[in-house]
Amino acid sequence: MKRPQFPFRAVLCAAVPALIMSTLSAQHRPDGFNYDESRVPEYTLPDPLRLENGDAVEDPRAWSEKRRPELMELFREHVYGRQPAAPEGMRFEIRSEDTEALGGKATRREITVRFAEGRDDPSMEILLYVPNGADGPVPAFLGLNFFGNHTAHADPGITLSTRWMRSNRSMGVVDNRATEASRGVRADRWPVETIIDRGYALATIYCGDLVPDRADGLEADSAVTAYFREKEGRNERGKDEWGAIAAWAWGLSRALDYFETADAVDAARVSVLGHSRLGKTALWAGAEDERFAIVISNNSGCGGAALSRRRFGETVRRINTNFPHWFCLNFRDYNDDEDALPVDQHQLIALAAPRPVYVASATEDLWADPKGEFLSAKHAEPVYRLLGLDGLGVDELPAPNTPVGHTIGYHLREGGHSITEYDWEQYLNFADRHLR
Ligand code: GCU
Repeated sequence: MKRPQFPFRAVLCAAVPALIMSTLSAQHRPDGFNYDESRVPEYTLPDPLRLENGDAVEDPRAWSEKRRPELMELFREHVYGRQPAAPEGMRFEIRSEDTEALGGKATRREITVRFAEGRDDPSMEILLYVPNGADGPVPAFLGLNFFGNHTAHADPGITLSTRWMRSNRSMGVVDNRATEASRGVRADRWPVETIIDRGYALATIYCGDLVPDRADGLEADSAVTAYFREKEGRNERGKDEWGAIAAWAWGLSRALDYFETADAVDAARVSVLGHSRLGKTALWAGAEDERFAIVISNNSGCGGAALSRRRFGETVRRINTNFPHWFCLNFRDYNDDEDALPVDQHQLIALAAPRPVYVASATEDLWADPKGEFLSAKHAEPVYRLLGLDGLGVDELPAPNTPVGHTIGYHLREGGHSITEYDWEQYLNFADRHLR
């Protein structure tokens, strides 16, 4: 990829209104990191089709019975941590339902998922919209959100989250609590009506229901991680204990457990997706849980779709330092030592196989390393080919706004770090191709 082209930046600084500048500076690009393709170090990627003992993986059976389980163990042990099985006493309670939501085109349902018996035990809230008038169970998109379910749509019937969240005036969060002002503030990231009109259900969950997104979040009273640590009689965080990303991913699987019990959504046609840290989460959810039909990563970057060995934009040290709760403790062993990692992120993409997987980047989102995300998709291709499937089908990073791919999809959207209507449009088209 060419270097980012901002020769006009100085001109802009002098001439354009403050609004445009604030959009530009909103591009997260901390100093002291590499954004220069010519300075990407040489690296050798671990081969997705070679067992740790050196044997080649030559047929689909060797992939699914040997190499895939081996890679899962490596990612659990060194990157995301190990997660518990679904809790025995888990219960689903319908908290609210409106069959005439969105002007009558959808049914809105809120479901409380209780992970254990007591009312104070950890739980999460699913917000679900299902199109009305479908012939049978519909395919769905499922993803976590950053600031509460009520931010996804201005629909006044959505319960305002009472959980801890990061204070943020523009999101209407004051003193770590959501206020009425936060209703619908993220509606631009969740084109609910479009999704419904295309015949899909949409479900979302606040990630902070599972683990609050802060350095000590894993220990928070409400966190599923704290609950299981106590239940399993551990006081300290184990080196391969699940971090927040794995716990969030686990929550997505519990939502899928719910869909298996409910008839409105076709649980065999659920696409799991997420943006940024929640895109890393969607990829890991898709790896851990093969019931997800499609896996979609939007601008997930380091620890998501981007190759760690490229050290372009965010690095392993930086992510482990800024977000000490996201990955397992063992991942810190690879701070400044990415080449020692037994895996790299193309193998995470390959863990979606044979299911369709989509990776999306944005031109200005250099922190997430668009080219590294593309290369991950590319280097996952041999696994798809071994399984008799088309992979990505192109060798070079495509031009902006030019979606490519077959069973592996990819696009580089023009613009910054976000999930937009354009991105959703591609995911809907991809799902139409694979699920209809
Ligand atoms: C930070 C972080 C990224 C992450 C992003 C997000 O920029 O460094 O790894 O993807 O936040 O979740 O928005």
